[in-house]
Parts: sequence; structure tokens; C-alpha cells
Amino acid sequence: MPGSRLTIAQVSDIHCGHVMFDGELLTHAVDEIVELGPDLVVVAGDLTSEGYAPQFRQAKRFLDRLGDLERVVIPGNHDLMNVGFLHFRDSFGQSDRVVRVPFSNQNGSEPEKFATVTAINSAKPDLAEGEIGQGKYDWIRASYKWPDDYRIFILHHHLVPVPGTGRERNIVWDAGDVLALLDELKVNLVLAGHKHVPNVWQVGEMLLINSGTASTHRVRGYTRPSFNVIEVTEDRVRIVHRYPGLGEIVAATYQRGERRLSLNPQLAGMWNRGAWNV
Ligand SMILES: [Fe+2]
Ligand SMILES: [Fe+2]
Repeated sequence: MPGSRLTIAQVSDIHCGHVMFDGELLTHAVDEIVELGPDLVVVAGDLTSEGYAPQFRQAKRFLDRLGDLERVVIPGNHDLMNVGFLHFRDSFGQSDRVVRVPFSNQNGSEPEKFATVTAINSAKPDLAEGEIGQGKYDWIRASYKWPDDYRIFILHHHLVPVPGTGRERNIVWDAGDVLALLDELKVNLVLAGHKHVPNVWQVGEMLLINSGTASTHRVRGYTRPSFNVIEVTEDRVRIVHRYPGLGEIVAATYQRGERRLSLNPQLAGMWNRGAWNV
């Protein structure tokens, strides 16, 4: 795959309809993603505040502005409130799905490298906690059927606690089993939202990447609204936090050959220091 690159915009927790939703932030985020033109846009759940139909329609109006960009949208716990999964389905279709996304080639030639992207609904109606459930493991296993593909898994909830988010109380119930399954399947990236604080962890050869809230002021401590831009090339993965309308900062770089993750020391503990340079 020399010269090929996969660019992903990872957005979550836009929470349309919430009193702290900020349409200006989401407009900036969508405009910036359109300008970037990534290979894939991931919307990792919590599109709404309470799962009401007008809130889904508002989210859809914003996301429709992404035009032809390939996207994977899953629901979060807020979207399943008030039987909201019906409205999610009406606006965004099936939540559990597998798509195959080609890497872009620098020279514009035919794609040689692909990513298998498996997305699953980890939310449960009217509960903040998440679960994948043993019944879905075989489906997940079968989804990674292209042995040479880069492997991405998407869910709303976190599999490992996120720093700066207070008491841990709604991690995925079967997080240990899911981590073991994804490790067995040699998944490269796990993308999630839910806690409204961006983070990157390395577990084995897997990167667990959380996005913050893109368009609300429901942040924790000094965290700012943000989304992630992830670039995968042959030798590295680069994770950028982008603050809609304000700028961006490289959060972490992973050297694939050495399996080494370097976190930006400037961001360490930022949720309680709050010394921002962007
Ligand atoms: Fe959320
Ligand atoms: Fe959530």
C-alpha cells in the first residue's frame, strides 16, 4: 500500500435538540469535513438529545450536507430513548452494518488497499450502559472476511474507561469479552464516542479512539467540543483533534511498524488544566 492513505472524520455526540446543542459548531464541523473530503465519515452515536423524530430530522439535515461522502452512522444511548430506534431507522437505516472502504492513492490510481468497517449498535433502550452481547459475536467474526483489509470496529460506548470523565458507570457490560474478540480478529482501530471527552488508548496492537462531543457544550472540565480526524498510512496512524471553527492539534501518532503510540504531552490532563493553544 505505498502511497495510499485512509482519512476518517470521526464525529459523535452531536445531540440535536439538547439545550446545549450549538448549531454553529455543527455547521463548522460539517463545512470542515466537506473541505477535508475524507474517505469515510463515522458518526458514532448520540445524534439526538432524547430520540425524538424532529431531533433526528435536524441531525439528518446537517449530515445530508456531507453530500456523497461515504458515511457510517450508528445510534447512541440517547437515540434509543422514547422508542427512538424507529426514527433512527427512518432517517439513517440499518445500524449494524459492514462496509468496505478503499484507501485513496496519492497518484489517483485504482485502490489496492481496503478497510473493512464493522459498525454495531451498542446502546440499549432507556439505559446509559452499553452491551454488544454474545449473540452478535459470530456476526462480528464473519464480518472480517477479507484477510488483507485494514480492520475498523465502530460502537457508541467505550470499551476502556476514559480519563477525565468522573466515575465509571456505563462501560460496555461485556467489554472484556469484546476486547478479547477484537484482539483475536486483529482489529486495528476501535472508534467510539459517548463520554464527550476525546481519548486514545493502545491495547495490544489495537487503537481505541474516542471522539468528544462535536456540537454541544456538554463537556467535562476544560474539555472543548471536538471531533477527530484520523489518517492511516502504511507506516503510521495520526489522530488529530479538531475544534470546530477554531483549529486543530495532533493528539497522537502511532508508528505501525514499532507498534508504538506517542501521545501529545501538551494534551495530557488537559481536561483539568485547560491551557489551550488553539
Ligand atoms: Fe452523548
Ligand atoms: Fe452516549
